[in-house]
Amino acid sequence: MTRAATPQPRPGVMDIDAYVPGKSAAPAGVARVYKLSSNENPLGASPAAIEAAKAAAERMEFYPDGAAMRLRQAIAETHGLNVANIMCFNGSDEALALLTRIYVGPGDEGIYTEHGFLAYKIYIQGVGAMPVVAKESAETANVDAILAAVTPRTKIVFLANPNNPTGTYLPIDEVRRLHAALPGDVLLVIDAAYAEFVRRNDYEAGVELVSGAKNVVMTRTFSKVHGLGGARIGWIFAPAAIVDALERVRDPFNVNAIAIEAGVAAMRDRSHVERSVAHNGQWLGWVSAELGSLGLRVTPSVGNFILIHFPDDEAKHSAAQADEYLAARGFILRRVTAYGFPNALRMTIGSEDANRGVVSALAEFLKA
Ligand SMILES: Cc1ncc(COP(=O)(O)O)c(C=O)c1O
Repeated sequence: MTRAATPQPRPGVMDIDAYVPGKSAAPAGVARVYKLSSNENPLGASPAAIEAAKAAAERMEFYPDGAAMRLRQAIAETHGLNVANIMCFNGSDEALALLTRIYVGPGDEGIYTEHGFLAYKIYIQGVGAMPVVAKESAETANVDAILAAVTPRTKIVFLANPNNPTGTYLPIDEVRRLHAALPGDVLLVIDAAYAEFVRRNDYEAGVELVSGAKNVVMTRTFSKVHGLGGARIGWIFAPAAIVDALERVRDPFNVNAIAIEAGVAAMRDRSHVERSVAHNGQWLGWVSAELGSLGLRVTPSVGNFILIHFPDDEAKHSAAQADEYLAARGFILRRVTAYGFPNALRMTIGSEDANRGVVSALAEFLKA
């Protein structure tokens, strides 16, 4: 056998388009910057979490508890779940990647939806499997389309509920219908990163589905409502056999000691969560309505962000131009071309100043 001269990535790896995070800087000279590109919490982290992180930093020479037991207990108590079915990760991204690595291999297929969170595609390709896209209807996941995409090679289905970047969601009855029709050996991953923000009676994050099935995992994060994106903490609620498999492949100390303490305090600070959800509810409605009255179509969102569509007819008011116009004024939004929306921007619901600022800047932009 002839050997290559250099180490070769496994098949599929070089086909991956690397994930591009939201921008965090404005052009030079902009005095005040509002980062509205990564769905972070405009109220910041809970003051109790900040204090806990500072205290933990005093003891940084010690390895963390590899089982993250205090954090899992705080989650279990708050959400009324069995601690044995909870696992913590270095962001929910780590959980999504490891689940793919365990349950999907070369030649298999993994399904996600047309405008679904793009990390899924990266993880599927990363294990040498084939990403399969299920069409959406009205920018919302479509259960029939997902089911039609299932083949004997399907091993995993990712459903972001609510989805990023659309902010749309599936009622729990639809998620149940999806699960009921999936073969038992297909893992259904319900990515509920934005669950806390949803105020709809027909929505559930998926706890009951996980409890009653062997092939469903719910993933959650501290990055959004808890304002701890920089600390990188995600968690899952999963059947025992899936926890067992994950325990074998995860890094032994995947959640660091500072994150564990910040996470415990954040999970227990229910009033910070309530404030964050109330702030979002108020301004999500306001920004959506104001942009609508400027003539911009906004996809109805239940998350902490909105997808703003720009007029298709005239090149003067494209999403790319709006992005530049806003950035020059300190408002950093997110281009979503890679998600199939070349003429839209995603905006995180920000502070009152940020929200009012974006609305008035877009009003000027559309007049210009
Ligand atoms: C739908 C969805 N899932 C998962 C994540 C990843 O979150 P984490 O910071 O926990 O890795 C994000 C982050 O933007 C997201 O939008």
